Amino acid sequence: MLKVVGGSSAKHIAFEVAKELNTEYIMVNTRKFPDGEKYIRILDDHIKGNSYAVIQSMYRTPDEYLMEYFFITNVLKTHGAEKIISFIPYFPYARQDTEFNPGEPISFKIIANLIENAGTDILYTFDPHLHRIKSLSDLFTIKAQNISLIPMIVRYINNNYNLKDAIIIGPDEESEQWTQMAANEIEIEYDILQKVRHGDYDIELKPRNLEVLNRDIILIDDIISTGKTMAETIKVLKDQGANKILAAASHLLLIGDALINLYRAGADVIIGSDSIPSPVSQVKCAPLIAEILKKM
Ligand code: R5P
Repeated sequence: MLKVVGGSSAKHIAFEVAKELNTEYIMVNTRKFPDGEKYIRILDDHIKGNSYAVIQSMYRTPDEYLMEYFFITNVLKTHGAEKIISFIPYFPYARQDTEFNPGEPISFKIIANLIENAGTDILYTFDPHLHRIKSLSDLFTIKAQNISLIPMIVRYINNNYNLKDAIIIGPDEESEQWTQMAANEIEIEYDILQKVRHGDYDIELKPRNLEVLNRDIILIDDIISTGKTMAETIKVLKDQGANKILAAASHLLLIGDALINLYRAGADVIIGSDSIPSPVSQVKCAPLIAEILKKM
């Protein structure tokens, strides 16, 4: 039997997955000991021989959630769980994927090793920030699959907002993979911003090929963290006469005043998935996870 366990960062997702699959949702008690150490207890008396979907998203306090994840998977494995299928919607440390300065760890690799060694049999994650490390198979020996939330997010936008002469825009070259995917999904044009240098101190940011004048924009990136990248892009697009701007990303870290700053920059709508819960996390991860598990 497949049961669903939600770590404390992803109960909102796990509970819905269990409901959708009509299977048991296993509670995990978590608290801190007085010295700050973590305590967990899985409330399931029949672990042996069952398989588990473990869902934990590692945002904002990733170290805490990671430790909890290691404890959960270890308890399941040592009590005889058959298979552990993990869903880590927001994968932590992915942007620390190289030794930028001598003496720094390649944290992405280290975390991947720890997750694998914690007893994970199969891993799914959504839009991890793959930049210098191109594929999850460079990090894991277990089956590790990256699935994008972008198609689901743009479908949601397309179905719920009445956009006129819309165009999808990415803030930089790195975002082209997401913008292209989004454009294919809802069959509209896309472009990315690029730097045009007019002199040593004169740099202009503008769309590579297309005009944005009087057009509605779906702005796409993988992560909104401090919001600076999106806010800058929104200002550029507004200066060039863009109409309505919807800023969308898979993962909404929204650090500090990011949300307010984005609205102040001129965003009409901000939208993303509930991989990280926020007031604008309108697109749910649960149906996608349930669908993956059903296919298995
Ligand atoms: C960068 O490499 C990512 O794709 C995002 O553009 C970046 O993480 C966004 O960060 P922020 O919101 O802090 O500008």
